[in-house]
Amino acid sequence: MHLALAPMAGITDQVFRGLCFEKGCDLATTEMVSAQGFLTAPKDRNAYRFLLARQENEGPLAVQIFGSVPEHMEMAAARLSEMGLFSAVDINMGCPAQKVVGGQSGSALMKDIPLAAEIVRRCVKASLLPVTVKMRIGWDEESVNAVDFAKAVTDAGAAALCVHGRTRKQQYSGQANWEEIAKVRQAVSVPVTANGDIWNAASALECARVTGCSSLAMGRGALGNPWLFEEIKAAFEGKEWKKPPVEEIVALALRHGREMIAWKGEKSGMLEMRKHFGWYVTGQRGVAKLRTRLNLASSLSEVEDILSLLLNKETED
Ligand SMILES: Cc1cc2nc3c(=O)[nH]c(=O)nc-3n(C[C@H](O)[C@H](O)[C@H](O)COP(=O)(O)O)c2cc1C
Repeated sequence: MHLALAPMAGITDQVFRGLCFEKGCDLATTEMVSAQGFLTAPKDRNAYRFLLARQENEGPLAVQIFGSVPEHMEMAAARLSEMGLFSAVDINMGCPAQKVVGGQSGSALMKDIPLAAEIVRRCVKASLLPVTVKMRIGWDEESVNAVDFAKAVTDAGAAALCVHGRTRKQQYSGQANWEEIAKVRQAVSVPVTANGDIWNAASALECARVTGCSSLAMGRGALGNPWLFEEIKAAFEGKEWKKPPVEEIVALALRHGREMIAWKGEKSGMLEMRKHFGWYVTGQRGVAKLRTRLNLASSLSEVEDILSLLLNKETED
């Protein structure tokens, strides 16, 4: 089974991806990058330096772009594919955020199949790398068009698809519709990755059974839990797998913090890490109080002190 880390803006940076690769992830994608922003930004602009950075412990990495103007998308795909950093150019046709769909990008493209296909065609022509598409199952319940959409973008040259089994209207609510992903897989001849609501080995096995896909992408389930890849791999290999002990969780959280600070500096590294620390302690005793304290911490040594309470079993419920 091929396991991917689903792209998550503000989360799946080089440090987090590296940890996921170490735990068995086979493919990751950068956070989404605005094609127009990338083309017009000064070369040394920090935002793009960070968005496009990758580190040594990473495996294959796709770069994801969003936009709705075929010329911008084509130029961005060409330039990014020439950087020698990435294994594919992925086009975001699934983002539900208002600021993205307002510009006719992301999941808004699911309402305009000819434009989506035109973007893919031009990116495929301009890119030195395979072009892939991340999509949803439609705009809303009344307009589920995943199969027609998938056929159009693969006819236009998309080399693989990742389908999040929700409509744009659902955002992240309700349950991912894996049956619709199965229909897409049957309708196209390129590899289809199933995505949505894979939280553990049981849901991964069930998603693979329902969709028939041999590639799965996990997003939220990996937050504070890079072990998810290890857990799922073990399940498909029929091997036993045990949850990591709290000592291992604390050690990885601190390593994540150290690497982030080494990359971004203490101030912005700590700001980035607050959410991650909160996710690492999910499920532990006294998590609400721990989170509040972790959110106020301004240095890694403070975090170390707070997490040592967990190790010494000194947390309160
Ligand atoms: C905080 C957050 C940020 C996301 N950012 C992106 C993104 O930049 N590009 C993208 O294609 N999908 C993005 N997604 C969607 C995820 O890739 C994935 O499709 C979705 O979370 C469903 O998978 P899951 O149930 O495993 O989380 C984001 C999701 C979350 C929760």
